[in-house]
Amino acid sequence: MDALTLLTQRHSSPRLTEPGPDASQLDTILAAAVKAPDHAALTPWQFVIAQGEGLLKLGEIFYRAAQAKGESGEALARARLLPTRAPMVITVIAKVQAHPKVPAIEQHLSAGCAAMAMQMAAQALGLGGIWRTGSYAFDPVVRQALGVEGEDQIVGFLYLGTPLSKAPNKKSPDPADYVCYL
Ligand SMILES: Cc1cc2nc3c(=O)[nH]c(=O)nc-3n(C[C@H](O)[C@H](O)[C@H](O)COP(=O)(O)O)c2cc1C
Repeated sequence: MDALTLLTQRHSSPRLTEPGPDASQLDTILAAAVKAPDHAALTPWQFVIAQGEGLLKLGEIFYRAAQAKGESGEALARARLLPTRAPMVITVIAKVQAHPKVPAIEQHLSAGCAAMAMQMAAQALGLGGIWRTGSYAFDPVVRQALGVEGEDQIVGFLYLGTPLSKAPNKKSPDPADYVCYL
């Protein structure tokens, strides 16, 4: 797949199954992540990879967060299962450093670019993925469990695996609707 096809045909895959990225594919995905644009070369990111047992550990963290929010019944049980919707979940964290020229927003954006780069790399490798946040990305229990402090931010949970369904036949927005010229 050439670069422009990837950029213009990119899509998410919400329904994923095994196999997830193998070791060599994961290396490629992470190599794409660390090429994200990065003001002052702060490398303001951390990637927490969960697969196998790791998915259950992440589910346990979501479960504790749901408990702390007072969830019960099905909602509580669902929290534990959320990460098992894919063979691999990469939690993308913006690790913000104090810098006179690089505010937190720029470091959050860099981490977001890394998330998209990983999703694109996965798609180029024939895999699929979806970038999710949901309330757990902002949850204090989840933040603490993953060492997310201060202006750090979980920018997303990138679910990766093999798509269960074909690319959706979805109309793209018309770029002209968002463009003006000075
Ligand atoms: C920061 C961010 C957070 C997102 N969080 C969710 C989410 O929690 N759940 C979800 O279904 N989609 C979420 N999305 C949207 C999907 O990743 C995806 O872009 C959307 O389903 C549209 O599909 P497409 O990428 O194929 O156009 C999020 C996207 C971004 C950029």
